[in-house]
Formats: sequence, C-alpha cells, structure tokens
Amino acid sequence: MAAVLNAVRAFFAQPTFKIDAENAADVVARETLLDRVMGADRTKKSSEKIRRGRIPAEGLALVARDRKGHVIGTVRLWNIEAGVNAEGHIVDALLLGPLAVDCAHEGKGIGSALMRAALMEAKNRGHGAVLLVGDAPYYERFGFFATKTAHLVMPGPFARDRFLALELVPGWLDGAAGMITASGRRLTQPSMRKAA
Ligand SMILES: CC(C)(COP(=O)(O)OP(=O)(O)OC[C@H]1O[C@@H](n2cnc3c(N)ncnc32)[C@H](O)[C@@H]1OP(=O)(O)O)[C@@H](O)C(=O)NCCC(=O)NCCS
Repeated sequence: MAAVLNAVRAFFAQPTFKIDAENAADVVARETLLDRVMGADRTKKSSEKIRRGRIPAEGLALVARDRKGHVIGTVRLWNIEAGVNAEGHIVDALLLGPLAVDCAHEGKGIGSALMRAALMEAKNRGHGAVLLVGDAPYYERFGFFATKTAHLVMPGPFARDRFLALELVPGWLDGAAGMITASGRRLTQPSMRKAA
C-alpha cells in the first residue's frame, strides 16, 4: 500500500528542475558551477582547446534550473571536424562537454535529463554524431562507446578508453580518422579600441 501511495505522490509531485536554453544571464552562474564541480584544472583539458574562443553549436547550450530559476546543471555541444572518412571527406560532428550538475543535486536524474535533451536537440538539428571525453561507465547508458573513435585523436593528451562517440545517424563515423579540430563560430572579443 505504501508503495502505491508513493507512486501516486511521485506522479502528482511538481518537477524539481527544468531543462532550458542557456542565456547570457546564465554565464556567471554556469562558470561558478563548473569551477565548483570540476575544479580549477578544468581549463587545462584537451577538450578545452577545442572550446576556447568558440561559441557552442546553435541551440546546443542547455542548463538545468531549480524551481527558483537558478542554474544547477549545464551541458554544451561544440561544432568539430572529426577527421576525414575513407573518401577523404571531412566528417562534421559535435563535441559534448562539460556536463556538470551541482553536487547538492546529484543523483536526481538531472545529468541524464540534460544529456537526453541535448542529444534529441542535436538529432533534430541534423547532426550525425557526438563525441566526448568522459567516464565510460556513465556515458555508456546513453549509447557512447570508444569503438567509433579508434582512429581519431584529440589535440593533446587524452585517455583512449574515455574518448567516446555516439552516432545519431548510423554509420556517420565509419572510417573517420585523424585529429579533432574546432569548426564552430568564433567568439568575437569586444574591441579594445575606443571610439573616436
Ligand atoms: C556525472 C554527473 C553529470 C551526473 O549527474 P547526475 O545528475 O548526478 O546524474 P543522474 O542523476 O542522471 O544519474 C545518476 C547515476 O549516474 C551514476 N554516475 C554518476 N557519475 C558517474 C560516473 N562518473 N561514472 C559512472 N556512473 C556515474 C550514479 O551512480 C547514478 O547511478 P544510478 O542511476 O544507477 O543510481 C554529475 O555527477 C557531475 O557533475 N559530476 C562531476 C562532473 C563530471 O564528472 N562530469 C562528467 C565528465 S566525465
């Protein structure tokens, strides 16, 4: 009986978070969250070389918000070229990361909700594959495996068993070989020159 009551309560309970598009007002909260969750060394990762100076792929910067609207989770995806295929054509893809959830909210399904929303949006926008560097035991549940990145390399040190990919279009990464490079829009820096 208690189990039935709990199931009924859960069904009618208000959701404790929502997934939303990131906006300019979220940037400080997102960066603070990433520093707290991932530590200051996060900017030294090879993935960061691909993100630095770039804007995330269109429509693929998402946040999780609590009921008050505060940012409690973040995920972004970035346009990349994942080497070339057997025909010598550039393989366009996305690099996912960082994915992070506020420590106070871990284990509530927020990371999974961010991942699923991001992957659905990427697929809807016609992208063929998503790559990332991360913990395989976590990302395998979303369909990420190291098999499709066997002939690809990151531009810097990386652990091969953490270099994972998911095809949104079957066969998209077939034969893909070479180095991952950034191909997204560049972040425009505000001009340092004063107006005359
Ligand atoms: C990894 C992270 C995003 C997960 O977010 P979350 O909201 O807690 O995740 P969910 O609630 O959707 O999923 C929780 C499940 O993932 C598992 N999990 C979390 N981190 C994991 C990891 N690194 N490896 C394997 N499993 C992991 C939990 O044990 C739990 O398992 P269960 O469903 O069997 O109980 C979050 O813990 C985080 O921000 N970690 C620090 C940053 C990080 O490691 N980012 C990923 C880069 S590898």
